[in-house]
Amino acid sequence: MKRIEAIIRQEKLEDVKASLEKAGYPGMTVTSVQGHGKQKGVTQQWRGMEYKVTLLPKTKIEVTVVDADVEKTLQAIKSSAYTGAVGDGKIFVVDIADVVRIRTGEHGEAALN
Ligand SMILES: Nc1ncnc2c1ncn2[C@@H]1O[C@H](COP(=O)(O)OP(=O)(O)OP(=O)(O)O)[C@@H](O)[C@H]1O
Ligand SMILES: [Mg+2]
Repeated sequence: MKRIEAIIRQEKLEDVKASLEKAGYPGMTVTSVQGHGKQKGVTQQWRGMEYKVTLLPKTKIEVTVVDADVEKTLQAIKSSAYTGAVGDGKIFVVDIADVVRIRTGEHGEAALN
């Protein structure tokens, strides 16, 4: 099992949700986050003063899936979050040791789908 943790543009959330809906997914967690990548935020002009914005608002989507569904989930997120400009985001794929569905006590893949 893997947790797919995608940090995307806020305005892409609805597109990414729709794309995941089409691909099928077992559940998601969405969080508002702040961050920066390689460009360390953007430098903006404001009243002639240059200042550096180091943290930008982004949206994090976490979806934990069985290994067999990793590729289709990545594809769904990549295709819908893409604009081609810097700041499109990043996807981290993390190994998950176990999952427990609290209601039934199921563990592992049985607790996911
Ligand atoms: N190495 C990282 N570790 C943790 N979070 C990261 C990392 N890289 C990017 N992020 C998160 O992803 C968000 C979007 O990053 P961004 O798309 O700007 O990445 P990038 O590597 O700079 O790529 P690009 O050159 O396309 O902008 C950041 O605001 C930050 O929240
Ligand atoms: Mg960047």
